[in-house]
Amino acid sequence: TQAALDASKLVIHKTENPKQKLPNEKLVFGRSFTDHMLEVPWHKTSGWGTPVIKPYGNITLDPSAIVFHYAFELFEGMKAYKDAKGHIRIFRPDKNMTRMNKSASRICLPTFDSEELIKLIGELLKLDKSFIPDQRGYSLYIRPTMIGTTTGLGVHAPEDALLYVVCSPVGPYYSTGFKAVRLEATDYAVRAWPGGVGDKKLGANYAPSVKPQLEAASRGYQQNLWLFGPDKHVTEVGTMNFFVAFQDKNGKKELVTAPLDGMILEGVTRDSILNLCKEKLDKSEWTISERYCSIKEIQEKAQKGEVLEAFGSGTAAVVSPVKEIGYDGQHIKIPLLPGEEAGALTKQIAQWIAERQYGIVESDWSRVI
Ligand code: COI
Repeated sequence: TQAALDASKLVIHKTENPKQKLPNEKLVFGRSFTDHMLEVPWHKTSGWGTPVIKPYGNITLDPSAIVFHYAFELFEGMKAYKDAKGHIRIFRPDKNMTRMNKSASRICLPTFDSEELIKLIGELLKLDKSFIPDQRGYSLYIRPTMIGTTTGLGVHAPEDALLYVVCSPVGPYYSTGFKAVRLEATDYAVRAWPGGVGDKKLGANYAPSVKPQLEAASRGYQQNLWLFGPDKHVTEVGTMNFFVAFQDKNGKKELVTAPLDGMILEGVTRDSILNLCKEKLDKSEWTISERYCSIKEIQEKAQKGEVLEAFGSGTAAVVSPVKEIGYDGQHIKIPLLPGEEAGALTKQIAQWIAERQYGIVESDWSRVI
């Protein structure tokens, strides 16, 4: 019988060489890691093995391991915060676990009981608690990962897998901080397609995204904007979901993001934004839409002064305001008040989310460990 993932079997080997901690202002996204990591092996016949927390360190694999050849890899990104009382809080970990299981299932890696992995991650966080920054804007980025480790060059379902979790203390995602970015619409490559895996958090979705980003950077843009199809629908921005807010001539406002049709990453921040906006924005003024909008619609509305704000959303940056989109040789300007780096809605959303992440506003999205 295949054993289920079982947090009660956890074994802990503590480090004998605790790391020197960096001051918050020296933290660069994903560059430094905590003292420990979690590892759980899986085998097709025996199921999940003993979960182990051990000193952070290298993984040794055979060069023929299936992850290196056919990209049997998936990951998650979530964050832990320290609240005013010093308690550890994780933001919506159940959403990440659900998505992780969906990713695993799609590439024939093993699924697991979400609550068991949350418990194990909780133990890792307790052990490495001193690495969780307690300053607003800072947090501990948690990277659950799963790889196929079976050796041999055949293309088949992995018979062995490794689930592991590493954690990195982080500050603002972009070194520039909370600054509006310029995007170049990419019209020569697509991120995802119908029937594809764009909605899964597979490493294989990210490697091909870097070249368009570099191309955009070579022309002075910070990120690229992904378009899809003959109508050039806006799908995502860089590695984030995309939101745009419109206001028509009668003053009616609409917040738009692409629908979850299989091509769009099911962002936890995306979902949080939609929920908060539906709950908190004045319904006589705002419509919250999960629909496609084309780059032409944004261009035409921008020309008429009907674009209010645009931003990307993701766990790493939370929200990332946009000030300009380069498309077809044109510059589509997203208005910003003088001296401002984000619009009023973007800032309001960032505040609503941070209040829940840091436990300032009690919410069942915030799980105390
Ligand atoms: C995000 O949180 O926005 C991400 O997509 C994570 C990124 C580091 C790949």
